[in-house]
Amino acid sequence: MLADKDRIFTNLYGFQDWGLKAAQQRGDWDNTKDLIARGNDSIIDEMKASGLRGRGGAGFPTGMKWSFMPKESKDGRPSFLVINADESEPGSCKDREIIRHDPHKLIEGALIAGFAMRARAAYIYIRGEYIREAEVLQAAIEEAYDAGLIGKNASGSGYDFDVFMHRGAGAYICGEETAMIESLEGKKGQPRLKPPFPAGAGLYGCPTTVNNVESIAVVPTILRRGGAWFASFGREGNAGTKLFQISGHVEKPCVVEEAMSIPFRELIEKHAGGIRGGWDNLLAVIPGGSSVPLVPAEQIMDAPMDFDGLKEVGSGLGTAAVIVMDKSTDIVRAISRISYFYKHESCGQCTPCREGTGWMWRVMERLRVGESSSREIDMLYEVTKQVEGHTICALGDAAAWPIQGLLKHFRPELERRIEERENAMPEAAE
Ligand code: NAI
Ligand code: SF4
Repeated sequence: MLADKDRIFTNLYGFQDWGLKAAQQRGDWDNTKDLIARGNDSIIDEMKASGLRGRGGAGFPTGMKWSFMPKESKDGRPSFLVINADESEPGSCKDREIIRHDPHKLIEGALIAGFAMRARAAYIYIRGEYIREAEVLQAAIEEAYDAGLIGKNASGSGYDFDVFMHRGAGAYICGEETAMIESLEGKKGQPRLKPPFPAGAGLYGCPTTVNNVESIAVVPTILRRGGAWFASFGREGNAGTKLFQISGHVEKPCVVEEAMSIPFRELIEKHAGGIRGGWDNLLAVIPGGSSVPLVPAEQIMDAPMDFDGLKEVGSGLGTAAVIVMDKSTDIVRAISRISYFYKHESCGQCTPCREGTGWMWRVMERLRVGESSSREIDMLYEVTKQVEGHTICALGDAAAWPIQGLLKHFRPELERRIEERENAMPEAAE
């Protein structure tokens, strides 16, 4: 179990005040000027050494992403940092805790990351429903300006850096990085084709890096304690500590910081009080938020909770939103509900996603009540394959994968429902 002294988020549960004074007592904003004085490339090298991979779901190496930003401004164009606080993945609720209780870690991280990538300003795009969190964040930004920590000559470093907060309006798709950029520009939040990646052409056509809240909030601690310290947790390719969000049928749902690669069973036993009704009652787990496939109980028990460990069991770490389902769960209904979510949130820009998410949900609903035929199970799989990889953004994949997971692991349950209905209503089978 991660020792208290190794926790980055020391006010995760809000036992102390979030304000500047209390944050400084916890070590935030301590000689930030000296961290900046190390220089842009040295900060990026330290981040590379830490092994940090993006905490928003995709796991792209953070230091490498920063290194894609131009060292010289072309035609006087500024560079920008955009921080993705549009946390909307069902099951995910970690960025909310950071913003509520530790906003200064995020703002200090924004300054250091922004400096490293030679950005002029950071835009924090916060989910519209996070009303209280937005109030706290805005107040913390104002505190930081008033104390000279950001703005002109930020923290006495000689570097000018602004931080702006922007509130979203409730669309899940605005969490996709290019849709977020469109939305910040005042347009409808629809993803752009990549490439070009934002580092080449992002906000207002300028070089931009989009990073998740957790990825940025850990930066000051990594620089203070060293990349090697962060890399000492987890295992190669899966370094660091991570906020896990455990929900569903556990005794004590929680958000907790742990070392990466902790086995699933240990994570649940130590922090969530075990499975409701005991371990024999576990049915399946969605380990990384609704975009990743479910894993049946017997396959997840010993899985290391990291990018590679969960890939090996056919799923992914995603945002580390661990949704636990016990045997009382109607698993078909649960996945059908997730399907509805993606149908509802599709921006409608590309045909396979716009039409496919609707088809998938409608077939899922028929399968839920057994009002279907076995042939349709194969057809549904084919539709998921037509959507996966054939769309502009990852929402298409995210809609296809949970269904593929269900078909892979729970096909007998779908067939049982069809058979049961046919037996009850023989005329329906004809
Ligand atoms: P992605 O793999 O396309 O990109 C990840 C990041 O790496 C992006 O910032 C991208 O610009 C950068 N990148 C990738 N290849 C690059 C290259 N060759 N050159 C330069 N930059 C490159 O994944 P995406 O679409 O950004 O994110 C999908 C993930 O988001 C899913 O895995 C899902 O788990 C997660 N997600 C999280 C949500 C949340 O609430 N936190 C909501 C919805 C999805
Ligand atoms: Fe929009 Fe879906 Fe296409 Fe993404 S995959 S751009 S959400 S229609």
